[in-house]
Amino acid sequence: MAAGNRTQWSSGFGFVLAAVGSAVGLGNIWKFPYMTHSNGGGLFVLVYLLAVFIVAFPIVIAEMSLGRSARLNAMGTFKKLSKNSPFWKGLGLLCIFSSMIIFSYYSVVAGWTIDYFIESITGSLHKLSANTTESHFIGFLGSPWKQVGFHSFFMFITAFIVLRGTSGIEKAVKIMMPALGIMIFIIASISIYNYGISDTWNFLFNFNLAQLNSSSVLEAVGQAFFSLSLGLGCILVYGSYLPKDVSLVKSGIWIVVFDTLIAIMACFMMYPIIFGTNMEIKQSATILFTSLTVQFNQLPGGAFISAIFYLLVAFAALTSTISLLEPVVSFVHETFDISRKKATIWCSVTIWFIGIGSALANGASLFFTKLAVMDRLDSLTANWTLPIGGMLIAIFTGWFFSKEKRLAEFNENERKYFVPVWTFVIKFLSPILVCVVICYKLGLFH
Ligand code: PFF
Repeated sequence: MAAGNRTQWSSGFGFVLAAVGSAVGLGNIWKFPYMTHSNGGGLFVLVYLLAVFIVAFPIVIAEMSLGRSARLNAMGTFKKLSKNSPFWKGLGLLCIFSSMIIFSYYSVVAGWTIDYFIESITGSLHKLSANTTESHFIGFLGSPWKQVGFHSFFMFITAFIVLRGTSGIEKAVKIMMPALGIMIFIIASISIYNYGISDTWNFLFNFNLAQLNSSSVLEAVGQAFFSLSLGLGCILVYGSYLPKDVSLVKSGIWIVVFDTLIAIMACFMMYPIIFGTNMEIKQSATILFTSLTVQFNQLPGGAFISAIFYLLVAFAALTSTISLLEPVVSFVHETFDISRKKATIWCSVTIWFIGIGSALANGASLFFTKLAVMDRLDSLTANWTLPIGGMLIAIFTGWFFSKEKRLAEFNENERKYFVPVWTFVIKFLSPILVCVVICYKLGLFH
């Protein structure tokens, strides 16, 4: 994808890969397994899957159809299709806001993967045992220099690539994404072979309705949006580069299925180790960096495998951060009439600065840790601005995007079988469900 002008993806496959590059990242490999762990498994997974297929999938199609129809960025699309309505331009601003905030803390976590890549190579992870992996990681979180340093490094790489153009990255995605998928599959198989599957299976797929609570439901719905890069116009922008003859429905199915598979496989990679060795996990958010170390240390060539793994995760994070920065830069570049280079530098420095709070919020500074800056920013975006953005995008597509233009995005078969159901869902079902979940969380039903 060439940024800034309307070149197109060479094929539907190129688009699917790029969108998968944005969707698959820390959300699948770090966040989903730890949220499922801290929310008690089963029911959380079920609500997540329902949210992905009933609420999020139709909005993936909605974003793609809007983008391909308007062939503009998110703000430009809402401006053009709503004929300059201030309300819908506000939605464009909400999208930009979400991108900036998510990128600010995402870059911190992405920095952790770089450190683990380096520690794999130097061999310092290799000395750890099941009992010491967590304290080692928590020690790392407590170092302000390392936290800010790796955050800065990751920010810099993303900004550099956004500045230089993403064409090299696209080629790399074709190799790295499948490699990551295969690697996760292999590690999951080894974990299952070594530690058994039954505890993990029961944890993930047995549920008890009594566990239902408003926070977990909202978190599961929010995670569906976060994981699919939905509700901030990212898929919309990618759709704006899509040739007319590519099927939105097929592309959407690929993105959603691949993203979900990676998230579930990531759980199968970590949980058997946690359950099999009775690891005591004090903070669920650490499991990507603790459970796997135990496994890698037992494998022949474990340090090498560990290095490749964290490198691939860092790469998956990079393709996500590029998709977070690009819309902000193009918005600033086009709106304020400053060069792309200046826009990239200004945006990155601003987001880097916001991210310092998160970098220091996991033990490196008492002040920021007490404020729980990272958790708050994560919750603000994933649980609130993304679902609200997604709900508004569904409403916009259902009610304000002309029927004629909407239909033009589908082929004949899809118009017959898919569009009527989809239209109903984005007009009524998705917005109402998101609204109900939010009202439930706000306590309006008690
Ligand atoms: N979907 C990414 C992940 O799961 O890691 C995170 C993300 C990327 C969210 C891009 C939003 C976005 F626009």
